[in-house]
Amino acid sequence: MYKTVVAFTLASLFSSSLMAYDLKSNMLLLNAELSEVQRAFISSDQKGVDESIKRFAKHAQDLLGNKEKFAAMLPEKKKNKAGEAVMSAQIISHNVQIILDAIENKHNQSGQVRREEAQRAYTYIEHACFRCHNIVRDEY
Ligand code: HEC
Repeated sequence: MYKTVVAFTLASLFSSSLMAYDLKSNMLLLNAELSEVQRAFISSDQKGVDESIKRFAKHAQDLLGNKEKFAAMLPEKKKNKAGEAVMSAQIISHNVQIILDAIENKHNQSGQVRREEAQRAYTYIEHACFRCHNIVRDEY
């Protein structure tokens, strides 16, 4: 009996720290990918924006697009906030689309207007990160 309890406690401790590790390492990756997008925008590297935003978008959807999957990575007392992930995924994909449309010149606008629209969409993506951190991560 005692052994079972110990084994069970160890197993749940181990899996919950694995989940926390998962969330943290995924967030670090997302951050690195978004920094690539920022770098490409600042250096007016259109091809770089195109490539880095697609990489970022795929990973953001994988991480944030599924409520149950995201909930599993959150600590017990925060699991009720998992819906924020899906909301963030929607904000992010909407703004990624604006950037891709600007690159493809979908709305037939001048280069300057397209750059500005795309840059603004990039800041809205950052805002989605901050928004969730304010609700789900930061205690103060
Ligand atoms: C749905 C909520 C949510 C969204 C959206 C979100 N994060 Fe996070 N983020 C978290 C939580 C929760 C943690 C705390 C994880 C931990 O410490 O284990 C975190 C932690 C981090 C960390 C710190 C990792 C460390 O070293 O401890 C970074 C960096 C980060 N996020 C970047 C981002 C970026 C960039 C975005 C936007 C592209 C983003 N996050 C969007 C919830 C979110």
